[in-house]
Amino acid sequence: MGKTIIISNRLPVQLQIDNDSITAIPSVGGLATGMKSVHSGSDSLWIGWSGLTQEEISEELEPKIDKALKENGCSKVSLTSEEIDGFYYGFSNRTIWPLFHYFLEYSEFETDSWNTYKAVNQKFADAILEKAEDDDVIWVHDYQLMLVPEMVKEKRPNTSIGFFLHIPFPSYEIFRTLPWRKEVLRGLLGSDLIGFHTYDYERHFLSSVRRLLGLEVSFNEINLEDRVIKVDSFPMGIDYKKFSDAASKHEKNTADTQSELQRRLNVHKESTPDAKLILSIDRLDYSKGIAKRLNAFEYFLKKHPEYQEKVRLIILAVPSRSNVPQYQLLKKEIDELVGRINGEFATVSWTPIWYFYRSMPFENLIDLYTSSDIALLTPIRDGMNLVAKEYIATRTDKTGVLILSEMAGSANEMNESLLINPNNFDQISDALIQAINMPKEEQIARNSILQKRLERYNVEKWANDFMKSLLEQRETTQKFI
Ligand code: UDP
Ligand code: G6P
Repeated sequence: MGKTIIISNRLPVQLQIDNDSITAIPSVGGLATGMKSVHSGSDSLWIGWSGLTQEEISEELEPKIDKALKENGCSKVSLTSEEIDGFYYGFSNRTIWPLFHYFLEYSEFETDSWNTYKAVNQKFADAILEKAEDDDVIWVHDYQLMLVPEMVKEKRPNTSIGFFLHIPFPSYEIFRTLPWRKEVLRGLLGSDLIGFHTYDYERHFLSSVRRLLGLEVSFNEINLEDRVIKVDSFPMGIDYKKFSDAASKHEKNTADTQSELQRRLNVHKESTPDAKLILSIDRLDYSKGIAKRLNAFEYFLKKHPEYQEKVRLIILAVPSRSNVPQYQLLKKEIDELVGRINGEFATVSWTPIWYFYRSMPFENLIDLYTSSDIALLTPIRDGMNLVAKEYIATRTDKTGVLILSEMAGSANEMNESLLINPNNFDQISDALIQAINMPKEEQIARNSILQKRLERYNVEKWANDFMKSLLEQRETTQKFI
């Protein structure tokens, strides 16, 4: 086997230019944070978009940019601002993202964006073709690049191509509304192995392939004239050790070594030792159900006034895709909701919601995870949700309660958490009361099982399982030929 080429729109680092100096900052989002751990442990090459527009990359800067990326094992695909508009803000995030998360009313079907999506997918495919040799293994990631497998397979039929979708694959009834549904399926079928987070997403995909393309599907294999494509589910894990080690190290911090954020959290804990900290962390995205969560929290405070001043909700909302109108509207809605709820309930000594609209460095994420008694994660739809897994991994003494939406892919593997329907405010309110009052022994019993599972099915195991399956598929295909 040759080298492994990872390809995704978002690279693990984003470059920022400031007066000719270049800084690489870690990317946010499950794909980048999860795959980063896999990438750093191997000699793979990762191809993707640098986060800069082609117009920002002057001739002078380009070698510096390439060097900074090379230091991180990456190579760039340059995109013009027009391409980013049509491909990233357009087709990827105004058509596919809402559609695949069942927000049908947000999906726009613009032919121009689709054409740019095709052209940019070809750019990514060309970048692979330039670097790949026949015995290389190519691993394509996510909904931004669904046409790439076919584009590469056409030119290099002997390379092994794996594709993994990090978001849900919707039911046939939703998927069929896409005007370019057949082209998207054919694009994906250039792969030898197609992976999803859950068995449900896998089934939805197979059903669309059968019904829209009329292909023969037997169990989890799709038979083409000259090839067999395997489809399977691989629930993505986290770098468990990285999170549990960071939490153990965090415990040893002294007043001198802890962060400013931790000091503030401590002040709160010391002044109100009985009050519970409830945490949520997400990109500011409508699929994450942040507005509904705030409404549910308000409902809880109204229905159970005895818990006012006994809880505090910390919302970390990371800026995301802010050129897309739905995200701008959501930001406004959340700002207003937080203001209104705080205005309504706050007392001189208590603010019910602490709201941060920014991304935080890893150390501060650990501060938040380890300081919170409860994690409240209520996506309306979520491919996986790694934050749920990260919270559990940082609970070194095994205390803490996870309240998790059953609409998140991770809910399939986290039955010991308190699973809720994000649209059911009574259920969320009851779950909060159960979490606040849960005896320590029960917390420990639940989290022990969760931790064992997360430690075993970590991100390395996920990547190895995927790769193993892809290589087996290659052998089968070669025999077939
Ligand atoms: N994250 C981060 N910085 C932040 C907040 C979150 O790097 O300020 C990370 C978080 O640790 C997690 C990822 O972003 O690994 C979010 O992944 P998840 O699967 O929960 O959701 P996604 O953003 O992929 O939809
Ligand atoms: C989700 C998607 C990723 C994406 C991430 C962050 O995890 O599955 O493909 O990279 O969100 O979104 P962004 O648009 O900033 O890359």
